[in-house]
Amino acid sequence: MRDAHRFATLAVHAGESPCPATGALDTPIYQSNTFVSADADEMAAVYGGEKPGYMYTRYGNPTIRALETKVAALEGGGAALAFATGMAAISSAILGYVKAADHVVAQRSLYGGAYNFLNTKLPRMGASTTFVPSSRVEDFEKAVQPNTRLIYFETPSNPVLEIVDIAALARLANARGIPTIIDNTFASPALQRPIPLGVTVSVHSATKYLCGHGDAMGGVVIGPQDYISRLAHDVIRDFGGVISPFNAWLILRGIRTLHLRMPAHCANAVQVAEFLARHPRIERVHYPGLASHPGHEIARKQMSAFGAMLSFDLRDGYEGGKKVMDRVKIFARAGSLGDTRSLIVHSASTSHRAVPRDQRLAIGITDGLVRLSVGIEAVEDLIADLDQALAF
Ligand SMILES: Cc1ncc(COP(=O)(O)O)c(C=O)c1O
Repeated sequence: MRDAHRFATLAVHAGESPCPATGALDTPIYQSNTFVSADADEMAAVYGGEKPGYMYTRYGNPTIRALETKVAALEGGGAALAFATGMAAISSAILGYVKAADHVVAQRSLYGGAYNFLNTKLPRMGASTTFVPSSRVEDFEKAVQPNTRLIYFETPSNPVLEIVDIAALARLANARGIPTIIDNTFASPALQRPIPLGVTVSVHSATKYLCGHGDAMGGVVIGPQDYISRLAHDVIRDFGGVISPFNAWLILRGIRTLHLRMPAHCANAVQVAEFLARHPRIERVHYPGLASHPGHEIARKQMSAFGAMLSFDLRDGYEGGKKVMDRVKIFARAGSLGDTRSLIVHSASTSHRAVPRDQRLAIGITDGLVRLSVGIEAVEDLIADLDQALAF
């Protein structure tokens, strides 16, 4: 278990210090596109990278740099680069490793945007992906080919909460010299730190728990310094998915309470999961904190708490899922996750409506699957809301 005080201190302080010019304690929002140099030599040196400094916000910005430094410290990684969204971070992180004729091994149970990028965009540049329909490390191993250049995975996964053994998969990949990228969005670094477990790169949709308040989009890639420098020079400059300084500032502010919010989210989620697991209308609850979850023991080993995302299968199928959505009063019918407010989604009629039913069922998304992002309201109110919504 990590030292909570150390993490809390980093969450509050890392990457931030009072402005030397004004004494402002809070990190200023450097809402400026460009930066002025004192003379021609200095400008040439900053452009050439011989002198540290800023020239143009797409190339770097002090508010964004503060966010990058804070997240790198929390994840225990060498360096970090922030992006406009989680998908900008994920696509760029993958492009940092993969080129034409390369092969990727990826978990099948992934956030839909990451799956689509690997499945439909990588082939356009002549690279391919084998999707592993399991969370077992042996199955990832079987999919490795001589030209495999990357293993990409997500744990807990969206929306069925599959758990992958991070240390075991990292050992397998590291023994073969294959880099690994994990999407650590569902756990956040407050609950799970994959880089010290051997993973090469961790990515986040900072839109979720890092921001924490549902009011700014962002993404972060954390990894070795040389890889992050390559992304900064070769990928973000050309693809341009840079975060705005204002959103970086909102996310910085959100992270300062990450270590307080996550235990509150998790404590609520455990109680909600236990209530749902006892409910006669519900066939199955997907929550790694329940002893019945197939990944429970692995989650216990690699997470300091089980997170606040969960999903459940209603016996009443598709129509039942829609009924629960219609009947909730506190849970907001909204996509996204990691907000202080509790959110609810019926996957088959919304996020996965375009996925053919047989494919959807193959990845565990049943007709009656409902996903919850459990917020930090009073848990009694959340349980009472679900109880009345399920009484149809
Ligand atoms: C696990 C996960 N990763 C990545 C993303 C993409 O993040 P963004 O919406 O910030 O691009 C999402 C979005 O829902 C997600 O749930």
